[in-house]
Parts: sequence; C-alpha cells; structure tokens
Amino acid sequence: MIAGKNIILGITGGIAAYKSASLVRLLVKAGAQVQVIMTPNAREFIAPLTLSTLSGKPVITEFFTANTGQWNSHVDLGLWADAMVVAPATASTIAKMAHGVADNMLVTTYLSAKAPVFVAPAMDLDMFKHPTTQHNLDLLRSYGNHIIEPAAGELASHLIGKGRMEEPENIFKVLEGFFSDTLDLKGKKVLITAGPTYEKIDPVRFIGNFSSGKQGFALAQECADRGAEVTLITGPVSLSIDNSHVNRVDVMSADEMYDAVMEHFPLQDAGIMCAAVADYKVEHQLNSKIKREKGEAPVLTLVKNRDIARAAGEKKREGQVLVGFALETDNEDAHAHEKLLKKNLDFIVLNSLNDPGAGFQCATNKVKIIERDGSETVYPCKDKRMVAKDIVDVLVNKYLKS
Ligand code: CTP
Repeated sequence: MIAGKNIILGITGGIAAYKSASLVRLLVKAGAQVQVIMTPNAREFIAPLTLSTLSGKPVITEFFTANTGQWNSHVDLGLWADAMVVAPATASTIAKMAHGVADNMLVTTYLSAKAPVFVAPAMDLDMFKHPTTQHNLDLLRSYGNHIIEPAAGELASHLIGKGRMEEPENIFKVLEGFFSDTLDLKGKKVLITAGPTYEKIDPVRFIGNFSSGKQGFALAQECADRGAEVTLITGPVSLSIDNSHVNRVDVMSADEMYDAVMEHFPLQDAGIMCAAVADYKVEHQLNSKIKREKGEAPVLTLVKNRDIARAAGEKKREGQVLVGFALETDNEDAHAHEKLLKKNLDFIVLNSLNDPGAGFQCATNKVKIIERDGSETVYPCKDKRMVAKDIVDVLVNKYLKS
C-alpha cells in the first residue's frame, strides 16, 4: 500500500521532468507524502512551484533555503523516506549516484537514504547505450537499487530508440507492487540455484558457460526482501549478496550443486532452478596440468552430468513447488513444454537467446512463463530484478497461497 508512505521524488534535468508532475499527482492521490528534490538543472525543465503545489511541500534543491537560511538535512530526509525515486534520472545523475559525487542535494540524499531506491533513466538512445551509462547502471544495480528500464519509442531528439522515461503510471505501478508485496513470503523457505558450474579438466582449466548468476541473485534478493528464508546454491560468480535471510552455499561443479540441492531441497517450500548447469563433465579429471609441448593435443571424453532439476522434481513432495528455467535458441516453446513435464516442474520460465536484452550476462531479461495448465504469460524486456519480481509474483499468488 502506498498510502501513508514517505516518498522522496528526485527530479533531474531532462525533458521528461515534465512527466514527474503526473507522478507526484498519482502518489499524492494514493495517499503518499511526497518530498520533491530537484537538481539545479531540473528547474530549467519544470517549475518548482508546479511540484510544490502538487506535493503540498516546498521543493528542495539547495543545502540551504536562501531566504530563511534553513539547513535542509539530507540525513533526516534519508531516514524519513520509505522509498526514493529518481525520475527522470539523467546519465549525469546516474554517474554521480554510481560514484558518490555528492555535489547536490539529490545525490547527497541518495547516499544517506536507507530506503529502497528506484531509478528511472531518461536520455537519448546513444547516451543510454553508451558503455559508461550501462556500467554505471550495473553499479547501481549491484548496490541493490531498482532500475526501472526506459521504454523504446520516439525520443525528444526525434530519434527512435530506447531511452524514454517509463510512463508515470508504470513507475507508480512498480512502487505499488513493491509496497503491496512486502513480506508475502514470510515463513516460507525457498531454494534457488544460480550461476554456471565449472567442470574441471585439470588443476588450471575447466569447461564452463557464460552465465553471470544475475537472474538467480535477483531472485534470491527478491524472495528475501519478501520475507523468505533463502538457500542460494551458486556456482562461481563475481556477485555478492548482503542479506541475513540468504544462506549462500558456494559450489563449483554440477556434482557439488547436485549434492547441495539434494541436501537442502527436502526442507523447502519452493525451489527455483535458475543455474546454467553444465550438461557434461570430463570423464577423467587430471591431477596435474596438461602440458602443451608433450605429445598430441588431448582428446577429452565427456560424460553426462545428472539433471538436478529433474532429480528434485522426482523427490518433490505434496505442497512443494518447483520452478525451472529454459534458455533456448530455437523451437523455444516446444522445448520449454518438454522440460516442464520431464522435470516435473510447476512452471517454467522461458528466455530465448534470440530476444535482444535476454539471457546471459546482460542486466535485463525477457521471459515467458509457461504453466502446466497451458497458460502462458509474456513479459516485456525488464531489469532482472523486475523479472524476479514477476516470477515471484506467480510463485506466491498461484502456488504458495496458504
Ligand atoms: N538443470 C539442472 N541440472 C542440469 C541441467 C539443467 O538442474 N544438469 C535445470 C536448469 O537449472 C533449468 C532447467 O533444468 O532450470 C533447464 O535447463 P536447460 O539447460 O535449459 O535444459 P537441459 O535439461 O540441460 O536441456 P538442453 O541443455 O538440452 O536444452
């Protein structure tokens, strides 16, 4: 429920700032207290008077209010807020937030905020695509911020592409969803597998895959934020998760992941098999390094790894829920259906490598959820944390309702 929540709306200097007035209106109408903080440039795009009238509070831009000399405490504001939303967020503000350049009231308050932070980027398509911006957004995500992906369409420059700030109604829905779902997994135990597995060839080499673990970690964060006790069984990734409700179990190979899942799954209410488990391992791992100069190039004999999801599906007891993933390159729906049945899953999350913005390494994903009764829900391309929210919504609302 948004009613009664204290929300800081940070507005930066982009043309989409005019849309922020509608966002203030939606939040206030829903019963939230809204404190607008503008960057100095934002005032060129929309009049502070419009925003203070709609929010019923003076807009803050400076550290001091010039005529009264009143000190605007970013620390107090940071503590007051239940959420902070930066919409629109320009490339410049995103960079400052990512690197702690606290040279204005908005970024200073961001650094003091204890509440969840939502960032809705808005900029020209090339600025959005630029590796600097993408890297800064990744940094913000890694600090636990929620990125509300911009939409594609005609931009202020008249160019067509991705960079348009998400509509205020949709930003509002993200916030509404965030507050309404709080703790709906309380008392539940969820096991999540994440990342790749590494299959050792010799002490220095392995067979692996490109999985970054981002989707699995986003699921773990989402479930923990909603009150679940999470067991996160992860292959080798360079991600961290800081949540006392997440028990992280690090494994290397598919065999180690299998053992960990078999140990923990019986105690769970749900399992989400998100790992990209290697299908094959080397039949005979070598204990010393294969040397280049010695003899012929080696021929590796591979043997099949055990299917962890399938083994969990066979052991699934009444009331337990099992969710799987399918990453496909062709014949996507048919393969996903087959896996859903073969592994005794309750639903499967399909992503296709043919969709831009989906799959390995990227920060976004585009998924379709397929259920046993044949129902299918297609979602647009979103930040992996938002995708996690969609998946957990289905898990909670359709499968774990007690
Ligand atoms: N999976 C698993 N153990 C394996 C292989 C896959 O737990 N050894 C799980 C994945 O975590 C995912 C689902 O099974 O939830 C589907 O994985 P995927 O690699 O798409 O399917 P495979 O069964 O390996 O089939 P293929 O590689 O032939 O597409």
